[in-house]
Amino acid sequence: MPAVMAVEGGDPDLPAKLTKQVLICSIIAAFGGLMFGYDIGISGGVTSMDDFLIEFFPAVYVRKHKAKENNYCKYDNELLQLFTSSLYLAAVVCSFFASKSCKKFGRKPTMQLASLFFFTGVVLNTAALNLPMLIVGRLCLGAGVGFGNQAVPLFISEIAPPKYRGGLNVCFQMLITVGILCANLVNYGTSRLHPWGWRVSLGGAGFPALFLGLGSLLIDETPTSLIERGHKEKGLETLKKIRGVDNVDKEYQEIVRATQLAAKMKHPFRNLMKRSSRPQLVCGTILQVFQQFTGINVIMFYAPVLFQTMGFGADASLLSAVITGSVNSLATLVAIFGVDKLGRRFLLIQAAVQMLISQCITGGILLMHLKTSNSISKHYAYILVIMICVFVSGFAWSWGPLGWLIPSEIYPLETRPAGFFFAVSTNMIFTFLIAQAFLTMLCHMRSGTFFFFSVWIVIMGLFAIFLLPETKGIPIDEMNERVWKKHWFWKRYYVDVCVEEDQEVAKPTDEKA
Ligand code: BGC
Repeated sequence: MPAVMAVEGGDPDLPAKLTKQVLICSIIAAFGGLMFGYDIGISGGVTSMDDFLIEFFPAVYVRKHKAKENNYCKYDNELLQLFTSSLYLAAVVCSFFASKSCKKFGRKPTMQLASLFFFTGVVLNTAALNLPMLIVGRLCLGAGVGFGNQAVPLFISEIAPPKYRGGLNVCFQMLITVGILCANLVNYGTSRLHPWGWRVSLGGAGFPALFLGLGSLLIDETPTSLIERGHKEKGLETLKKIRGVDNVDKEYQEIVRATQLAAKMKHPFRNLMKRSSRPQLVCGTILQVFQQFTGINVIMFYAPVLFQTMGFGADASLLSAVITGSVNSLATLVAIFGVDKLGRRFLLIQAAVQMLISQCITGGILLMHLKTSNSISKHYAYILVIMICVFVSGFAWSWGPLGWLIPSEIYPLETRPAGFFFAVSTNMIFTFLIAQAFLTMLCHMRSGTFFFFSVWIVIMGLFAIFLLPETKGIPIDEMNERVWKKHWFWKRYYVDVCVEEDQEVAKPTDEKA
């Protein structure tokens, strides 16, 4: 670190045309999001396929088909969870190296490295003959996610004209959801192809990986990265090309200023630990913890398994996963169009209430009607699917996209990339924890699992009400002055700054805070 994110606009003079070049580069880069989403969605369907279980997890297969087996425990197997979660473990480790590679070699080679890892992972998974081959394949995919998720949002954010940056940011989430949906559809189709349907599912990840790999040969490196690495002329030339105009002096100067500022910042991580960075660090990081503790990935990873637990047949379970995947994609549109009108806090608080109600009803139905060895009646099964759709839609227009958007807009430029790295790695760590723990939780806590997530939703709702400031419409470089220093709670972190730490942050006007 730090990789420098492009300077946020706020200047009406900056050319804000969405050129063909920017559009093509963004679409190619966004295939990284599609790849990520596909990996999230594919494992649930595959781990519920009998052919796959027979080949790699015979014990789970036997348990799943034992007539009297405990409903809640039939999938409780640590190795099976490791198949899903290993990807995120690799992603945490690799996102750290990715941040170094972004700075040293640029965003473009980092994306190329991501697609190389993706490819290796896809080949190993598709051809897997044994469990180690399968897990190593997942680890390679995880490395791809780590490199991709650090480089792609940074890349899009740096080439997008400031005016379109927010929209494009949520579009990345949109592509994640499309990836999840594609995976669900593929699983639905391949579950009928015996005995190798699962190989087609895992091999399907080759398509987004191929597009990302070939596409990344065609895209331009970002001007910010070129300038940051000393290629000023090439940076200027690229800036003119992607903006489609010759008069880019203002933006060029801003990028140069930003890179110089970032270059002076020898220890961005240390700076992030200062008292004056605490409000952003706490809010940016905790939002990702909360995002995962909504319990969303229980549904994204294990929807088919979860639906089978509830007594749906194999086909119906995969179909239900397709339904939740579609709801997820469609509801993300609400965020794209609503986030700058309704505000971040409104969406987060409204969705917390909606998600709380649906989690409680789901937990309640399971508590009353799903005992250890029965199937739930059709009537209740439908209500469960509806409740899960209500939950997913709430997540999709709030904690999903905003978990990524808010950390990218609350930091001042000097600490923005380091802060964003914290958000990415926190997301991966907690995704790993949920993926690794959920099936065991379901076995031991049963319907209580859903009440566990409900408690977290209450906590995050209260956090959004009392501690999260509204950032809608605030120019990114005025966040400190207009948001943090005025917030009833967080302003206290700026009072002592004048005395103690960095004078440049605290100006005399802070006194009133
Ligand atoms: C989250 C993922 C989740 C996805 C669901 C993303 O924002 O980070 O963990 O699976 O949304 O759409």
